[in-house]
Amino acid sequence: MKEYSRKRILVTGGAGFLGSHLCERLVTAGHDVLCVDNFYTGTKDNIAHLLDAPNFEMMRHDVTFPLYVEVDEIYNLACPASPVHYQQDPVQTTKTSVHGAINLLGLAKRVKARILQASTSEVYGDPSVHPQHEQYWGNVNPIGVRSCYDEGKRCAETLFADYYRQHRVDIRIARIFNTYGPRMHPADGRVVSNFITQALAGEALTVYGDGTQTRSFCYVDDLVDGLIRLMEAPSPFAEPVNLGNAAEVTIGEIAREVIRVTGARVPIQHASLPADDPRQRCPDLTLAARRLGWSPATTLADGLARTVRYFVQRAAPSVHRPPGGPSGVPADVQQRAVSAAPARVGQAGERAQQVRA
Ligand SMILES: NC(=O)c1ccc[n+]([C@@H]2O[C@H](COP(=O)([O-])OP(=O)(O)OC[C@H]3O[C@@H](n4cnc5c(N)ncnc54)[C@H](O)[C@@H]3O)[C@@H](O)[C@H]2O)c1
Repeated sequence: MKEYSRKRILVTGGAGFLGSHLCERLVTAGHDVLCVDNFYTGTKDNIAHLLDAPNFEMMRHDVTFPLYVEVDEIYNLACPASPVHYQQDPVQTTKTSVHGAINLLGLAKRVKARILQASTSEVYGDPSVHPQHEQYWGNVNPIGVRSCYDEGKRCAETLFADYYRQHRVDIRIARIFNTYGPRMHPADGRVVSNFITQALAGEALTVYGDGTQTRSFCYVDDLVDGLIRLMEAPSPFAEPVNLGNAAEVTIGEIAREVIRVTGARVPIQHASLPADDPRQRCPDLTLAARRLGWSPATTLADGLARTVRYFVQRAAPSVHRPPGGPSGVPADVQQRAVSAAPARVGQAGERAQQVRA
């Protein structure tokens, strides 16, 4: 990489699911990457394979406190993303989004760095417009159990927009829709990890409601590609952009697909819907396609197969397993799942295995 294109890049939440993939991609591209994380939901295992790279640095830090570093770009991903995690300490969740945004925008302003906020489709709440385009203002409950996350992210967007209007900070806002892939937390209570964990344990898959509510699922490699394209797009680019996958599937369909990919012989059982659970969520990706030339490329079947393979390897006794993983996968289910998945887990998984070996 030419020296002038080599950047110093800060990734907050870099030890988490998305952050670790992003760090890996940026390190591979030759940038100097500073990963900042307080390990609330992220783990050192997610970035263990990067620790020996001379252009990678890890700092334990909570973004609710100010940070003084010299960088050219900031990706602000720090925030627990799954309801089970962000509802554990809702006050801290709001603080992470709001104080975190203030601290990092202050840093961006001081050092004249470009800064990207990992926002979320949750800013649309339980939407009355389908698919959701960026001009839709959302339908969000301000006092519900999901509000610490939804409203925290909405306030972060407000801060980003005001730092742009008031201080001309070079901002980017990515509204990320459901993303899945290797290194997602097995106990995060989200649908893909729930289903895979249950299927691999030989348990019935729990579908909340009747399973006709829809979601769209984006594979992590596609998402990271979208984040980098957004960061690298010419300035100014202050308006939010949806990133996700527009292929809408019902929760029932995804349950059946997980059963197919894992080869598990398990039934589907139904339970009541959690509070404020949106019925339908699907991105309008027109803006991302037009301004970034980006659209997701990985099919659900392919992405699921790679994710299942990661979960199987994670549970295998010969592989170092971070805490909280599935306790064990029956041998026959493991065998069927491995042979159903393609040989490639993704660069991330492969390199992680090499380092751990
Ligand atoms: N994964 C998705 O489907 C999805 C969808 C929409 C938005 N997002 C956003 O993308 C970002 C990353 O999500 P993820 O799925 O990787 O979640 P994750 O929980 O795996 O990662 C979040 C990371 O932030 C760290 N963190 C939390 N609070 C912190 C704090 N106060 N200071 C420093 N670090 C802190 C955690 O330890 C973790 O490593 C989040 O901001 C999330 O809101 C994710």
